[in-house]
This record gives sequence, structure tokens and C-alpha cells, in this order.
Amino acid sequence: MSISSTPQGISVSPRHVSFDVTEELTTLWHGNNAFRTAFFNALSLQFPDGEQQFINAVRLYRDRIVDPKLAQEIRGFIGQEALHSREHKNYNEALKARGYDIEAIDERFQKHMKWVAKLAPNRQLAGTCGAEHYTAVLANSILRHPEWMEGATPTMKKLWRWHAIEETEHKAVAFDVYRACVGDDRLRRIVFLFVTYNFFKFTFLNTCSLLKTEGKLWSLRTWVGGLNFLWGKPGVLRKCLPEFLAYFRKGFHPWQQDNRTLLADTLSELDGEYRPS
Ligand SMILES: [Fe+2]
Ligand SMILES: [Fe+2]
Repeated sequence: MSISSTPQGISVSPRHVSFDVTEELTTLWHGNNAFRTAFFNALSLQFPDGEQQFINAVRLYRDRIVDPKLAQEIRGFIGQEALHSREHKNYNEALKARGYDIEAIDERFQKHMKWVAKLAPNRQLAGTCGAEHYTAVLANSILRHPEWMEGATPTMKKLWRWHAIEETEHKAVAFDVYRACVGDDRLRRIVFLFVTYNFFKFTFLNTCSLLKTEGKLWSLRTWVGGLNFLWGKPGVLRKCLPEFLAYFRKGFHPWQQDNRTLLADTLSELDGEYRPS
């Protein structure tokens, strides 16, 4: 029996694409809105080091995986995350043009990631599964609610959609490795509390740092608009909250949310543009 749970028809394989976002990132690319731009940039700033850590955590266990389907998916997962890491590194580098202190933001996050890298392997893998859950839920919503990206510049829309597609495809890979090699459902949920705290902490701190450079950190209007974006309309976090919390259920599995149709529809809409080369 296969221990991979990635359903039929889903292939985990990197698309060798790259995005030139240098020009767009010199602007408030998300509809000329400081908060929305800062929020997505704040997420991007966690990706290069975060995704490298996901790769490292899965690598700690890959030798124990004998199921050829899961072994193949691990290769695909590593390939996809490595390309995401590379593209978001370029993205973050380009942000410097707006005068953001990217080095200071990176340093703050890298300090945390160094701590993560010293944890026991089972905790590192549990942390990866928890963080992958956040990316999978956000990815699903980016595909399901295109209005979240309304007003964004064209290449940025493409980049975020590409990332969302691949996060959906590989959402169960680290999870299946965890189930096969660690299997502790209680540890998975406890570690998720820490992941939750850190994910929101760094997203918030990064957003504040970026808004500070924009001179909008103390702008009430910016924050009211931002809170409306997150909790009101379209309500990015409000809509995701039940899905985030589903991870605390005993016996949770990422494919319990079966979004294959959404993924297939997105891919056909893109008319083969993102199919693996
Ligand atoms: Fe990724
Ligand atoms: Fe991922």
C-alpha cells in the first residue's frame, strides 16, 4: 500500500519558470495600497529561509521513505520549494529599491530560523507540516478568491498564483513523511501552536517594518483599511480562520480539503502556461 496520500491526477513537479518583478516592486504593486502591498511582501520575506528549512526538515527523513510514489513526490517537493525560495529571494532583493531595510528584516527572521534548525528532527518536521498548512490554506484562498489580488500588477499576480498552485500540489508531502516516520498526532498539534505564534508574529513585524519605511506605520487610515482587508471585505484571515483551525482536529489530513477541481480549473484557465517543462 502506498503511504503517499496525494490523490490521483496531482503531479508534484517543479515548473521551471522565473518572474521579472524588479520594476513592479518599485511601486506599491497591490493596487497602490500600502497595507496590502506590505502584507504580501511581509509573507514573501519569510519564504526564502522558511522554505529552505522545509527542505532541510524533509531531507532528514527522506532515506526512510521506501514508497516510490512518496519518494518521487519528495523530489518534486524539494524542487518546487527550491524554486520558490529562489524566486522570492529575487523578489525580496528587488524590494530594496523602495528603501526597505531588508537586511534587518532578514536578520530578525534568520535568528529565529537558526533556533528552528537546532530542534529535534521530529519537531522540525512537525513545524514544517504546520507551516505548510498555513501556505496551503492561503494558497487555496488565493486561487478561490481572485478578488484578493484585484488591482495587483500582472507579473505579481502570476508569481503569487504560480506559488499557490504548487503549494496546493505538494500540500501533503511533508505531512505524509511525518505520518510515516513520526506519526505523533499530539506533537503535530502542539508544534502547530508555536508555528501559529511565529507565523503571525513575523508577518505582523514585517508588515510594520515595511509600513514604517512607507511613512504609514502610524496612519489610522492605513490600519483601518488593512483590518478591513483582513477581517472585513474580502476578509483574508476571516475566511481562512476555520481552515487554519482544522489542523487541530485529531486525524486531520491536508487532502480532507479536496481542492483538485479548483486546481484543475486554474491550470486550464492558464492554458498550459505553468505546466511543467
Ligand atoms: Fe513554496
Ligand atoms: Fe510548500
